[in-house]
Amino acid sequence: MDRRKWIDWAIKGITGLYGMAIAYPLVRFLHSGEGEAEEKVTQIKLEKNVVPEPGTSKIFKFGSKPAIIIKRPDGAVHALLATCSHLGCTVDYDKKEDKIACACHGGRYDASTGANISGPPPAPLKPLKLEEKDDGYYVGVV
Ligand code: FES
Repeated sequence: MDRRKWIDWAIKGITGLYGMAIAYPLVRFLHSGEGEAEEKVTQIKLEKNVVPEPGTSKIFKFGSKPAIIIKRPDGAVHALLATCSHLGCTVDYDKKEDKIACACHGGRYDASTGANISGPPPAPLKPLKLEEKDDGYYVGVV
């Protein structure tokens, strides 16, 4: 192989690798199917002891999304998706305030309904359907 052919071949190879480096993340993004995975999960079961006493909560996965189950001080249990409507941080239950709080920018949500009550969140949290049975909590899409 002469020098010219070798340089030609090397340039084509490097260009091809460069193109794959650009195309790979784009193809992965387009085929991630994140929205489809969320739609496939319609119900999950949580153990009864996931929220053992009033004032406790637990973050869990609902499909690909974080969700939260809360047992409020009055014993009422609620489940909501836990993605903040502002910029997508995962929210958590603040037992002292009895509210759902976002640590990123101080957003606050009602712990029962998920209504946005203060801070920057522009929309409420999405509530999940919760059914309490003898063998656990059944959490599903509304
Ligand atoms: S991401 Fe939650 S308040 Fe900004």
